[in-house]
Amino acid sequence: MRKIWNVLTATTMVAAACGFAGAAAAADNKEVQMLHWWTSGGEAAALNVIKEALAKQGYTWKDVPVAGGGGEAAMTTLKAMVAAGNPPTASQILGYFALDYADAGKLGDVTPLAVKGDWAKVIPTALQKFTTTNGKWDAVPINIHSVNWIWLNKAVMDKIGGTEPKNFDEFLALLDKAKAAGVIPLALGGQPWQEATMFDSVVMSTGGPEFYKKAFIDLDESALKSDTMKKSFDNLAKLRGYVDPNFAGRDWNLATAMVVKGDALAQVMGDWAKGEFKVANKEPGKDYLCYRFPGTDGTVIYNTDMFAFFNVSADRKDAQNALAAASMDPAVQSAFNVIKGSVPARIDVSDAAFDMCGKKGIADVKAANAKGTFLGSMAQNYAQPPAIGSGAYHDVVTKFFHGQIKTSDQAVAELDKAINAAM
Ligand code: BGC
Repeated sequence: MRKIWNVLTATTMVAAACGFAGAAAAADNKEVQMLHWWTSGGEAAALNVIKEALAKQGYTWKDVPVAGGGGEAAMTTLKAMVAAGNPPTASQILGYFALDYADAGKLGDVTPLAVKGDWAKVIPTALQKFTTTNGKWDAVPINIHSVNWIWLNKAVMDKIGGTEPKNFDEFLALLDKAKAAGVIPLALGGQPWQEATMFDSVVMSTGGPEFYKKAFIDLDESALKSDTMKKSFDNLAKLRGYVDPNFAGRDWNLATAMVVKGDALAQVMGDWAKGEFKVANKEPGKDYLCYRFPGTDGTVIYNTDMFAFFNVSADRKDAQNALAAASMDPAVQSAFNVIKGSVPARIDVSDAAFDMCGKKGIADVKAANAKGTFLGSMAQNYAQPPAIGSGAYHDVVTKFFHGQIKTSDQAVAELDKAINAAM
């Protein structure tokens, strides 16, 4: 059993047992109890697609929302619920978090549906590592997000005469133009997961896909300590110079809102940001622009939102299966992802309903998957287990970004040390 269970205190368990006992007792076989962190406008709108699909089949929805982008708070709540013996029907979950629950024997089984629906044929193999355990399907992927995007306000771009930056230096030159025009160049929420998510793109842009893979997926020590990794930290420090003074602690969707309103030029963020433009009725190409993070074209740093299915009592299994089936329905995947900003996890879903950014996203996933540049996000726990991803990595990146670690030499040494300690 990995570290996930060790950090749970007895107090939290007792509190959770009391807090959620009522929910479990009230559950009947027509109720879907779902834990998630989709609380922003765009996220909530996307989740409605799934709620409505289940409502049509007569299921009621018991929402367990835990605010906090990136899902760290949600994972703490989930841990408490599972430890207290009151797991939800399903939980939104990322990467290695699911593998930890599978290792601990906490997950259920929706394999008969997977066999019937031939899911193995339509879900990229890379994702099946996280949705299956020894051939058993215990989670389903509702989407594929990717983190290496930048989102720009089109009117601000026009005002400063900006064009698409094709590499990191051009990106800095563009940000300089915004600064000169008195616009905040970069909208950022200064929270560890957001800074780390941005750093994924910086590392890919600085070192390319081979380097990214060596450092983050293979944990090759020479890559982690290399000059390229130092240069990545130096490049991150350069971006630090373009954020406004109030960035610390800001939620990601508030940073997106700055770009939506034209208070800032750009945000580096996963394509869930697009959901916020969409819910504000903004159109790509007209109101905003989506580009791959400069220097990362041809690569997709992915994370996929999975729904993990827990071991539940027999009377709750029907609802669990209904949620799994609805989530894997091609029409639901299309409708959900059009709103969410992500692309369908099923590669057989048509791109017809998607806007220009969504069409690019779908094409990029296919191309990257074919040429081996479809790589898991370190910040989002798709490259390494949480002790390394949202533990060591988030910690060092945020300390560097906020000046507690002062140089890239020191940052590289600290990252290597923290990763080794977490292994
Ligand atoms: C999830 C997205 C979510 C984002 C912000 C990411 O970890 O994959 O679905 O929109 O966090 O909350």
